[in-house]
Amino acid sequence: MAEKVYVVFGATGHVGGPVARRLAEARRPLRVVARSAAALAAHAGAEPVVGSVDDPELVRRALDGAGAAFVQLPPYFGPGVRAWQDRVAGVLADGLEAARVPYAVALSSLGAQLAGGTGPVAGLHTLEERLGRVPGLSVLAVRPGYFFENHLSAIGVMRSAGFYGGALAPDLRIAQIAAADVGEAAAARLLALDWRGREVQELHGERDLTPVEVARALGAAIGKPDLAYAQLSYADAQAGMVQAGLSAEIAALFVELARALDERRIAPLEPRSAATTTPTSIEAWARDVFAPAFRVP
Ligand SMILES: NC(=O)c1ccc[n+]([C@@H]2O[C@H](COP(=O)([O-])OP(=O)(O)OC[C@H]3O[C@@H](n4cnc5c(N)ncnc54)[C@H](OP(=O)(O)O)[C@@H]3O)[C@@H](O)[C@H]2O)c1
Repeated sequence: MAEKVYVVFGATGHVGGPVARRLAEARRPLRVVARSAAALAAHAGAEPVVGSVDDPELVRRALDGAGAAFVQLPPYFGPGVRAWQDRVAGVLADGLEAARVPYAVALSSLGAQLAGGTGPVAGLHTLEERLGRVPGLSVLAVRPGYFFENHLSAIGVMRSAGFYGGALAPDLRIAQIAAADVGEAAAARLLALDWRGREVQELHGERDLTPVEVARALGAAIGKPDLAYAQLSYADAQAGMVQAGLSAEIAALFVELARALDERRIAPLEPRSAATTTPTSIEAWARDVFAPAFRVP
């Protein structure tokens, strides 16, 4: 019998991209889903499905005949974020149930055990709950820490003001991770299909980091070893995000997320171990990803 297809949602993103590449390298039949056909074309040999994950018909088509799926709630910047996330969680769950897919890896987050007060992470709580109720589906929720990629949004202020500004307390030591490492870990589990029922895998990154340590690593990579971290009030951080073009609703959700991190409500539930630790250091990421992005005019 032909091997069943793997379906990767968000296959052109920071996490989905590495998931799809790793499955392709392992020569698994592959279907990749995103809205940009041009970007999906990078996955030569995979079957592209072009459209939005909030479209039930598209999701059903994408999952038809699948043996395993990598699903996520992509970043969403339109109005009604939480309602959109909850709707997409339902569309994905219904699609997986209709296609009788036996395995799914869900891209979740530390803090997804909480139903609210965590900004966009609350949507991942819904996603885990909805997928957990799909009959016959074994769901692995991968819960990573704070992506290094979030630091890319600081480049504008860094260039104009010369410091790294953020809402987190300067000495807040949290799990931070390269998104590509999340993809690698998810792909390894998808290749192994080694879980049954509901399981959670936390990913804590290479080591825990404070914003001051991150600023030091980023600064060193861009030739500014004295780059300082400046803590902004929640109000100033929110205003800055709005000024940078985000909606007031999304800025408020990100501030709620920052507050949940500061108050340690979003934090690992298990101790760091070999299984939760991933290879890429902030220094390596700063050199390979951040510095080239900073240099783009
Ligand atoms: N940032 C963090 O610190 C963090 C921490 C833990 C968990 N997470 C989770 O990780 C998720 C993904 O983050 P990421 O950085 O990998 O995002 P990303 O790089 O922006 O990737 C998102 C992917 O989804 C696709 N996509 C976006 N909107 C879509 C839509 N409406 N329908 C279908 N596909 C869509 C994108 O391609 P197209 O735009 O071409 O469609 C892209 O392939 C977040 O949403 C969050 O749930 C994030």
